[in-house]
Amino acid sequence: MILVLDFGGQYAQLIARRVREARVYSELIPYDTPLEEIRSRGPEGIILSGGPNSVYEEGAPRLDPGLFELGIPVLGICYGMQLMALETGGKVGSVQIREYGKSELEVIEPGLLLDGTPDEQQVWMSHGDAVLRPPEGFTVTARTGSAPVVAFENLERRLFGIQFHAEVRHTAYGMEILRNFLFEACGCRPEWTPVNIVTDAVEKVREQVGDAKVIAGLSGGVDSATAAMLVHRAVGDNLTCVFVDHGLLRQNEGEQVVEAFRRNSEVPLIHVDARRRFLDRLAGITDPEAKRKIIGEEFIRTFEEEARQIEDARFLVQGTLYSDVIESGTRDAARIKSHHNVGGLPEIMDLDLVEPLRNLFKDEVRVVAAELGLPDRLVWRQPFPGPGLAIRIIGEVTEERLEILRRADHVLQDEIRSAGYYRQLWQSFAVLPAIHSVGVMGDARTYAYPIVIRAVTSDDAMTADWARLPYDLLERISNRIINEVPGVNRVALDITSKPPGTIEWE
Ligand code: XMP
Repeated sequence: MILVLDFGGQYAQLIARRVREARVYSELIPYDTPLEEIRSRGPEGIILSGGPNSVYEEGAPRLDPGLFELGIPVLGICYGMQLMALETGGKVGSVQIREYGKSELEVIEPGLLLDGTPDEQQVWMSHGDAVLRPPEGFTVTARTGSAPVVAFENLERRLFGIQFHAEVRHTAYGMEILRNFLFEACGCRPEWTPVNIVTDAVEKVREQVGDAKVIAGLSGGVDSATAAMLVHRAVGDNLTCVFVDHGLLRQNEGEQVVEAFRRNSEVPLIHVDARRRFLDRLAGITDPEAKRKIIGEEFIRTFEEEARQIEDARFLVQGTLYSDVIESGTRDAARIKSHHNVGGLPEIMDLDLVEPLRNLFKDEVRVVAAELGLPDRLVWRQPFPGPGLAIRIIGEVTEERLEILRRADHVLQDEIRSAGYYRQLWQSFAVLPAIHSVGVMGDARTYAYPIVIRAVTSDDAMTADWARLPYDLLERISNRIINEVPGVNRVALDITSKPPGTIEWE
């Protein structure tokens, strides 16, 4: 197992993910996790992530230098490399030309980390500071035009540093370099698959909940269903699933979820019709974060009410993923938006959370879901956010506006599926902005809403690109929406990637 210490870098979570791709289990933990705790978890290696700070800045995160004395191999990446240099006697400073983006690396000494990679290769850099002088005992193995120490290593102490980001795809030999660290330096074996999560998670859940009763929130999506099925393996009959229809679902979705679940599972399911309750609380609310907080809180209050009907129900299972956690903001990473199941949770809750997928990305969850035997249609369902259509309706959420969006979205889904694009896209959906525009239909003036089409490709929702859908498909979607959905007279296409946009509009 590899522990990645998170110094707040944008790519910290990607490091853990790439390690898992190399079939070694990996987890991200806060940079200031006590040494004792790190040691007791028995990692085969440690990776120090990048971070937004300069090592000399006041308040910049530092680490316990004892980390380098544990006898565990350490790889420092970017900020992590600079910290390693600083703590072991090297010199760090600002380089004359800052490097952001692609850069050419030149290998100057054969070493363990860059072994088997070409003498010249493309790497991805994002830094203003760099190591100017390596610590004693370290060999410099690579440089770029503007930084003299881009990779170094001390084989005896099994300490390694790279200034570039091996974890991003733009670094041509990034995976090879990480593999060298994992297999040559740490002696890991490529044995882990997301399926191992099943055994581990079942064990952990049993430990956490004991004999108490557990309820699982189901949304109809793959994350919550997978989490519930894992927990079912752990606690059997002590689990009850609860599906809350908050009135913010797509056309016919509520009935479909309940029907599909009852057909495929023997776990008892409670169907709560909470449509009035959510809509009443959302009345007059236009701020995106306020909507998210209200929905997060109402979900929990509804689950608590259901839990009170079951004797000794003390735990709530959520299908929270790593991307939900990171976007909601951690102590070391900025808040982008409050996902309903993380940042949108109320402060005081009666139920303790069980979140067996919290360290995973969506594609990893899909592997687990397939292993658990969930039906293909569910495994490959596009993500749908917990706050539902509320965060795709800009401005106030009303019955009337929900109906417009539902109808438009239904047309879009229908066309995307018929054209065979559903699985290729990470998500495809309609957005209802809070504006009107003038049009002409049947010789008369209209003044109605536009609908925005959003379709993106992505691996993990952390970054995304807008999908290049064929014009004839877009044309069919546009014509059908305008003809079939009263209240809409215009269709627009969102061509923003993430970043700078996010996938959802709120
Ligand atoms: P953004 O819009 O931040 O979304 O690029 C990334 C992914 O997360 C989904 N999303 C959510 N999922 N609760 C969820 O369960 C939420 O509050 C939430 N907000 C966004 C979004 O659909 C996309 O797949």
